[in-house]
Amino acid sequence: MTETRGRLANRRIALGITGSIAAYKAIELIRILQTEGADVRVLMTPSAVEFIGTLTVETLSRHPVDSDLLSLQGDGRIGHIAAAHDVEAIVVAPATAHWLGAMANGLASDTITAACLATSVPVVVAPAMDGGMYSHPATQANVARLREFGYEIVDPENGVLASGMTGQGRLAALTRIVDAVVEALDGAPAAVTLPAAAMPAGFAAQPVDSTPAESAAASRMTAPSRNDLAGRHVVVTAGGTAEPIDPVRFVGNRSTGKMGIAVAEEALDRGAAVTLLLGHHSVEPPDGAHLVHVETVAEMQAALRAFTPPEGPLFNILIMAAAVSDFRPRHVADRKLGRGHGLKLELEPTPDLLAETAERVKAAAGAHGRHPVLVGFAAEVGDLDRASEKLRAKGVDMIVANDVTEEGSGFGTDTNRVTIYATDAPPEQLPMLSKREVAELLLDRVVVRLGGTVRPDTAGAADNAPNPEAPVSVEAGR
Ligand code: CTP
Repeated sequence: MTETRGRLANRRIALGITGSIAAYKAIELIRILQTEGADVRVLMTPSAVEFIGTLTVETLSRHPVDSDLLSLQGDGRIGHIAAAHDVEAIVVAPATAHWLGAMANGLASDTITAACLATSVPVVVAPAMDGGMYSHPATQANVARLREFGYEIVDPENGVLASGMTGQGRLAALTRIVDAVVEALDGAPAAVTLPAAAMPAGFAAQPVDSTPAESAAASRMTAPSRNDLAGRHVVVTAGGTAEPIDPVRFVGNRSTGKMGIAVAEEALDRGAAVTLLLGHHSVEPPDGAHLVHVETVAEMQAALRAFTPPEGPLFNILIMAAAVSDFRPRHVADRKLGRGHGLKLELEPTPDLLAETAERVKAAAGAHGRHPVLVGFAAEVGDLDRASEKLRAKGVDMIVANDVTEEGSGFGTDTNRVTIYATDAPPEQLPMLSKREVAELLLDRVVVRLGGTVRPDTAGAADNAPNPEAPVSVEAGR
């Protein structure tokens, strides 16, 4: 778990490890950075991988190691480019003579040089090598060049080296390196982050705090941002569930998945890693999302449970836009039922997945109350009065309610008129908008709850609309 106090509390740091014998010390550096509150993701050169492997590093950092220049993350982004944009500082420790030379000349032949070239965040470099190698004019020229780039160099120390000889080449004391990172970040505002949780490969969870006091403080920030969900993992449910009656028929609903898919697209555009738990749908899901196809309530429940282990949720934001069936046949026939003399179906209620997930998330959050932002949808018929009760009963932060009988606001429409109910604000009616615009305004509010910024042009829009959750109907399963 990331410490919430410390000089690097809520900071996202990339640690680059290159192939020096001192690479083993980087393991301890990860722990110290974490103790200071940082969420550390690691980039390694292939030779560093030869020295210390990746298993320990991945286990400690709780992120996959990026050591392959051509590897894609689960969200489709190139790993080192994602790191370059998602972190607040890069520290390269230990940095070999070869790496210093490559960096000084802009040769992006490993993930660390590539990330450093692509980033605009502070870079701290701690060289480690044989004393003769360090004092060589070539190395000194490379170090000088890196200083010209504005990189902070933490000089190696004098002492006994791996060769048994004495010289200036020992990796600096780890506390000096950490101090340099703190100093490099001094003055830059910290992102608000969640306890780091182990993520499915390719995803990095950033801690969230949804306490009302911090939300209120966050809402005073108005700097525009189009990348305000970078480093966040958003789980979106979309589409409708289908409960089998027999091998060809099911109890389903009219959801097309449009609203949830619009939310997923908007989150991707804002830099998030997105997992889409997708039921029946009739529009294309976005390319960049990690898709988990589900058919039944039980399958969606299993997927949600996988993302909410007892140690803590594996996402920063959950948006449940799917139309989850409220009933399912108590018995499922294993053969196609004939027309015969008609059919009497006995339906049993399904579990409330949103309420259950909120409970699991809050149990994991414990006494400090920090948890991801949880958003449900409510498809109502007529007035929306029940939405505020659902907000309370399901234990979520927001409910987005709409009247599915209103023209332009039901299933399959491209538009929606919603009212957003939140635990920390009065109900907010949005006007009739496209589902994408609804998604945008909703995520603006979610970003505020995360402690981020909201774009001034969309802050505080008033008035209404989206999504699915459907009346049960019995349809042919085609
Ligand atoms: N939901 C859920 N599990 C269910 C039914 C609904 O997680 N079995 C979720 C939906 O995805 C939605 C929210 O709960 O985000 C509200 O759904 P809604 O159908 O409006 O509420 P219900 O609790 O089903 O209440 P009712 O059907 O009585 O309106």
